[in-house]
Amino acid sequence: MPDIDLDVYLTADDLADGLRADARTGLTASPKWLPPKYFYDARGSELFEEITRLPEYYPTRAEREILSTRAGAIARITGAKTLIELGSGSSEKTRLLLDALREQGTLGSFVPLDVSAAALRAALGELRREYPDLHLHGIVADFVRHLEVLPETGTRLVAFLGGTIGNFTPAERAPFLSGLRGRLSPGEFLLLGADLVKDPAVLVPAYDDGAGVTAEFNRNVLHVLNRELDGDFNPDAFEHVALWDPTREWIEMRLRAQAPMRVHLKGLNLTVAFAAGEELRTEVSAKFRRDGLTAELAAAGFAVRDWWTDQPGRFALTLATAI
Ligand code: SAH
Ligand code: AVI
Repeated sequence: MPDIDLDVYLTADDLADGLRADARTGLTASPKWLPPKYFYDARGSELFEEITRLPEYYPTRAEREILSTRAGAIARITGAKTLIELGSGSSEKTRLLLDALREQGTLGSFVPLDVSAAALRAALGELRREYPDLHLHGIVADFVRHLEVLPETGTRLVAFLGGTIGNFTPAERAPFLSGLRGRLSPGEFLLLGADLVKDPAVLVPAYDDGAGVTAEFNRNVLHVLNRELDGDFNPDAFEHVALWDPTREWIEMRLRAQAPMRVHLKGLNLTVAFAAGEELRTEVSAKFRRDGLTAELAAAGFAVRDWWTDQPGRFALTLATAI
């Protein structure tokens, strides 16, 4: 049985340093904001997995539907030897790709990369049991800062699934896509999952579910701040807000202070005042149109080869080649 390699380019201390800098910047800005990567401690990653099973949260099911019909074609077209997955989480849907690539006989190794060491270790443990002969190489890293650590062997297919591309703002997306293109050779592949613009009556409940799991996921970032920065946020004093912005075509998640309050973050030596009703932006989740995404990929040096959607056309999976 081949060993599992696990490379850590982002230690818990590095992540805490990043959180310190980002929390100081975001919580002293107006309006207040935080980057979404801090949702994903062990609890946040579990909550995300719960979200993927909610009746209102269609993206995971839609992407799985596309993968289950197209994985064979993806394997044939790419002939990938190395499958790299950015923001891999549980890699649950990715098994469809692993199975198709193995059936075809090309796959040598799987390289999941995630900022969440807890999610990555759990996924690797299960993958080892399910794929005892596959070389697994986990990477704990930030896909914004550490793309230079991607392995360079074999024909590579980089999967970026789930619609996580939407959690960048457009200004962040362009350098991310160009940076990724810069790590690939012409003819290598990107498989990109993107959620599509649709009726807000479908979109908003996906981010504000009846069982309150997304609200709990949203508030989890306050638990992370309390733990890492010795803070005294009362997460229950913040209301979960999910709004559709029709101009920017993104969902915005916010936490709204239900009363005026002063929050102390001893680890930052910082006191943050919230007015009643003041909101903290915790995530954007952009939704895409075919023309716009194709143009963004082209600007980064990728040519869209295939564009597949689920039956109702809610979610797209794009296979693009580095040109
Ligand atoms: N790809 C999975 C998980 C999506 S959730 C799916 O389709 O279901 C988003 C994942 O990206 C989480 O596992 C989170 O830990 C990871 N992530 C978020 N920001 C990241 C960053 N900056 N660098 C690396 N991983 C990140
Ligand atoms: C990971 N990412 C694509 C999810 C999304 O839909 O934007 C994160 C999420 N936020 C709330 N629910 C799920």
